[in-house]
Amino acid sequence: MKRIVFLTGAGMSVESGFKTFRGNDGLWEDYPVEQIATHEGWLANPTLVNNFYNRLRKKLYAAEPNEGHLLIKELEKDYDVTVITQNVDNLHEKAGTEKIIHLHGELTKVCSSKDPDDHRYIVELPADHCEVEPGQLAGDGSLLRPFIVFFGEAVPMIEPAAELVAQADMLVIIGTSLVVYPAAGLVQYTRPGTPIYLIDPDDTPTRASGRLTHIKKGASEGMKEFIKLL
Ligand code: APR
Repeated sequence: MKRIVFLTGAGMSVESGFKTFRGNDGLWEDYPVEQIATHEGWLANPTLVNNFYNRLRKKLYAAEPNEGHLLIKELEKDYDVTVITQNVDNLHEKAGTEKIIHLHGELTKVCSSKDPDDHRYIVELPADHCEVEPGQLAGDGSLLRPFIVFFGEAVPMIEPAAELVAQADMLVIIGTSLVVYPAAGLVQYTRPGTPIYLIDPDDTPTRASGRLTHIKKGASEGMKEFIKLL
């Protein structure tokens, strides 16, 4: 089966009711990214950070995947599909996609702040108890924190993601401004001649722009157009 790798970003979840980060009314317009998405911000005020992600997490449990998520799932019938996502939402999971790599963590999970990648202390929060209380501790006695990769922290899943892009027969980028590295650098791992598609209503500055087919539409309409090209 041909291997299609998707690289998705915040734009993938816009039709499910989530804001992008850098759009005109983007999430970072309302909250200083330094305070809620950096390692320093966490150290300075862990309660503020947990409260921010508590609110986003509550919203997530009520959210539904959109047609774009579902069309990606449907392609699994005829293709070997892997989704590499920068999103921390679980909408690709809710759509039923089998193979997903989360580069920036998962909003439904919390972890140790001593060692966020220590799997013994990574816990999935149930919908009816999805908020972290101030001062709540992880299993190792450190403060419980969101299982999210903050700016300034390592992206442990980037190596397996790069390997998958290097083996892909097709790369489809949906809803990312490609400004955050190392995720944005994944485009460069495609073998020469691998078709690259970009589904995004706006122009996204990427070094691969010469090699890609830009479907200038939102995720759902763009996926419909992409499928027609297959
Ligand atoms: N369908 C598809 N794409 C869309 C839609 C839509 N309906 N609406 C907006 N977009 C596009 C925007 O044009 C933009 O290119 O989605 C992209 C969103 O870009 P960002 O807001 O920068 O989000 P993203 O690229 O995912 O951010 C990367 O930065 O803040 C960190 O860790 C966070 O994972 C995030 C990373």
